[in-house]
Amino acid sequence: MFHSPTEFIFGRDTEQQVGQTAKRYGAHRAMIVYGGGSVKRSGLLTRVETALKASGIEHVELGGITPNPTDTRVYEGIDLARKEQVDFMLAVGGGSVIDTAKAIAAGVKYDGDFWDFFCGKRTVEDALPIGVVLTIPAAGSEGSGNAVITKTDGLHKLSLRTPMWLRPKFAIMNPELTFTLPPYQTACGIADMMVHVMERYFSNTKGCELTDRMCEAVLMAIIDEAPKVMHNPQDYEARANIMWAGTLAHNGICGTGREEDWASHFMEHELSAVYGVTHGAGLTAIVPAWMTWMCRHNINKVEQFARRVMGVTPNDVEGAAPGAKPRLVALEGVRRLARFWQSMDLPTNITQLGIPKPDIDLLVDKLHENKGEFVGNYVKLDREMTREIYVMARDYSIDD
Ligand code: NZQ
Ligand code: ZN
Repeated sequence: MFHSPTEFIFGRDTEQQVGQTAKRYGAHRAMIVYGGGSVKRSGLLTRVETALKASGIEHVELGGITPNPTDTRVYEGIDLARKEQVDFMLAVGGGSVIDTAKAIAAGVKYDGDFWDFFCGKRTVEDALPIGVVLTIPAAGSEGSGNAVITKTDGLHKLSLRTPMWLRPKFAIMNPELTFTLPPYQTACGIADMMVHVMERYFSNTKGCELTDRMCEAVLMAIIDEAPKVMHNPQDYEARANIMWAGTLAHNGICGTGREEDWASHFMEHELSAVYGVTHGAGLTAIVPAWMTWMCRHNINKVEQFARRVMGVTPNDVEGAAPGAKPRLVALEGVRRLARFWQSMDLPTNITQLGIPKPDIDLLVDKLHENKGEFVGNYVKLDREMTREIYVMARDYSIDD
């Protein structure tokens, strides 16, 4: 099933349309959800408030949402939405803000504890409509049916997937709003969207040549555009390409017809739950080790990725014995990917992430407590396997 009804309104100054667009989707009294202050500093919040007012939409606000958002703010938002009789959720920010708005949207319409949805006790059967003004291309939440929230008690970071209810009605995407992103957040966002594509690319489903090629195209475009935005944060064309890539990476189109993996994401979610790291950086600390491990256990797609996305050719492994070539090609692809991330000052192992002594027992325990006996699909990983990958990720070195 592919159901992606979000209306994307893309281009310069599009935030001016937020009032009239929210009105079209039935908003009378909206809750604006935003983060730690970037939207105030840039003046975006004031522009959004003005646009809502001009369309006759009243609003209340829930600000100060932090990265890796928690259940505490969701409960607060649900109470506020009920008290103020809010009929529309408007997220102005990135994944953390959008996911909080989504969780509130579902929680308001449910008599029990909203966490029931995240821990799998209940499925969402109703939700307030959600709109988005996106300020960072990264999580892809503007076009996804997912929300990721951390339960403070026990540090459980879980994702909820309910495309029918949680996909935003509309997402306003003005690349100029991303000019103010710090380089680290830009880089983390780029890494996150790349891994969203890769979680879909690393699949054993046969006969999905079209989606393979779409995944490759999105990845190659990101790799081309990323240095441009890192070098010149105000490059509109490059910012626009990166912004749209972040949406296509995660709105489901790159995963149609195939089994998806998601092991790297779930392994990362434990890192960001326990150590509070930025999600994209957590991913670049896990993925090179995960791919290297896959070279031993299911090399097919790693080798294809190396050739088609990272441009590794037989010349690059000249002189190797024919039987050893696929593995060397695959490993060279992993190294090139890691170097690419390194070029944006991202970590490529857990130590570089600032965690020299990760509690691997704890990470493995929490991972399997949250996700069950096996994690991922490309290779179904049991506890011993995820432990091996965490250990490799702690010390991964491009030069080995
Ligand atoms: O809080 P403010 O002050 O706005 O600052 C934010 C925040 O510190 C800043 N920022 C955002 N736009 C900015 C800006 N700074 C300057 N100028 C701008 N235009 O960036 C920082 C990070 O924001 P955040 O919303 O946390 O980023 P992101 O979009 O990467 O979201 C990360 C969250 O999404 C989850 C992650 O796990 C993490 O919790 N994910 C959600 C998914 C989904 N819903 O489908 C899928 C993803 O795989 C991911 O797990
Ligand atoms: Zn992600």
